[in-house]
Amino acid sequence: MARPLKSKAPSACEDILMTGDHLAFQHVIDKAGYDYPKAREETKFLYQVTGNSIVTVGAHAHQRQRKIMNPAFSERQMQRFVPLFQSIATRLTRGIMSQLEVDPQKEIEIRGWLGRASLESIGYSVFGYEFNALEDENCEMAHALHHLLDGAAKTSAALRTMIWAYVNVPYFDAAMGLLSKIVPNPAAESAAHYKRITREVGSKVLLSEGAVSNAEGFEKDIMSILIKANSSTDKEKAMDDDEVLSQGSSFIAGGTDSTSAQLAWALFELAKLPDVQQALREEIAAARNRLPDGDISQMDYDALPWLNAVLKEVLRYHPTTVFLNREAAKDDVIPLAEPIMATTGEMIDRVPVRKGQLISFAVHISGRLSSVYGEDAHVFRPSRWFEKMNDKVSLGHYSNLAAFSGGVRGCIGWRWGIIEMQVTLAELIENFRFELPANWRDIKRSPCITLPPMIRGKEAAGSQLPLKVIPL
Ligand code: HEM
Repeated sequence: MARPLKSKAPSACEDILMTGDHLAFQHVIDKAGYDYPKAREETKFLYQVTGNSIVTVGAHAHQRQRKIMNPAFSERQMQRFVPLFQSIATRLTRGIMSQLEVDPQKEIEIRGWLGRASLESIGYSVFGYEFNALEDENCEMAHALHHLLDGAAKTSAALRTMIWAYVNVPYFDAAMGLLSKIVPNPAAESAAHYKRITREVGSKVLLSEGAVSNAEGFEKDIMSILIKANSSTDKEKAMDDDEVLSQGSSFIAGGTDSTSAQLAWALFELAKLPDVQQALREEIAAARNRLPDGDISQMDYDALPWLNAVLKEVLRYHPTTVFLNREAAKDDVIPLAEPIMATTGEMIDRVPVRKGQLISFAVHISGRLSSVYGEDAHVFRPSRWFEKMNDKVSLGHYSNLAAFSGGVRGCIGWRWGIIEMQVTLAELIENFRFELPANWRDIKRSPCITLPPMIRGKEAAGSQLPLKVIPL
């Protein structure tokens, strides 16, 4: 497959330069610092979901917020979360088992379970708060998260046009405010509902008088860091109430949907590959037998070849973030790893761009390049990670993949995501065998900002992934 690079105009908006080229990624995402800020349209939408958070603020505030919060995401800090993730994964197993006891033949909607488990991890670590999402079917936060992107799924093209208009058409914002009282706007409604309830929890926990982290020994956890920043008098180390609450909304939105969707896709692909599933199961059992107390540590998870190969393959093959949308802050020339033919017929290995040019880096395409991953790049095959690859350009935060983005705006929680996925996948594969459901051909990737699994014809129910689950 040739590296795609094209300009296109969705709806009536500006042309977008779209590419999956790895050298272009390195230039625009990894190395450009703040010279390629996030596209304004995207920031506008994310602001509706999270407010003044690390995800939406401009360069100066971003640098300050990121510096304050980085220590909470260090490798050392993340390792301390392993027992927490393990205990949540055990509760997840218990929840699925109890559902199977009621009806052993019933297909299990695994995406919902995974989303609830991720919410518990973030809830406890960011707010020191148990949402009880694995035990309480009516958990309001779990419902709000599950439906956060439904509106975006239903209105994908229209939504993009609308966000563009919000940014570019004078008074559109005010007009839509009035219009929304008459015409329903599902995307805006779910965003507003989500933002309201995350702020309610945040206010109770982070801004209450005498707020303290209740996670003993976790002096640098996110919660302690946010509480400390809120009372700091040093301008460079301080965050006001609005910023603190906005971080809470951004961590829940950024950390739950992504991790749980990746895991759901991993289980779907493993259901198609029983041999790989079995190899993974045996590898985990062998690791447990080797360890005197049976407890697997972060280093042990990192040393399991199949576990890590499956996770890398799912991040390559089913990345949940589809596009990284940027805009050029100044005129520039973007280099390409693989030359392309211009409309003039000339082969070019660099593309000049003007200030303001919108660029969509296509993460899902970058993971399917046959020039990097071989002729079977379109096949889910974890064992490719045991072979030498042709990845000459280094990119991103993890394993030369674009899935966690890179550079100054790359995923702050990438280590967290990896550890949580390692722990949860190992726990589930040890306890269950996963098989495809009767309607598996109807399971599709649904573009709604992220790329979660949905069932054809049942999109209104939100992201779902039913699987046959057999206890071992
Ligand atoms: C498998 C799991 C995950 C994936 C695939 C993922 C993916 C991403 C991507 C692609 C971005 C960058 C978007 C861009 O450059 O425009 C991002 C940013 C971010 N992610 Fe993640 N993420 C994951 C897990 C997490 C977790 C667990 C957390 C929090 C606990 C988190 C919090 C964030 C935040 C706060 C940002 C914004 C960073 C900034 O702008 O400085 N993510 N994530």
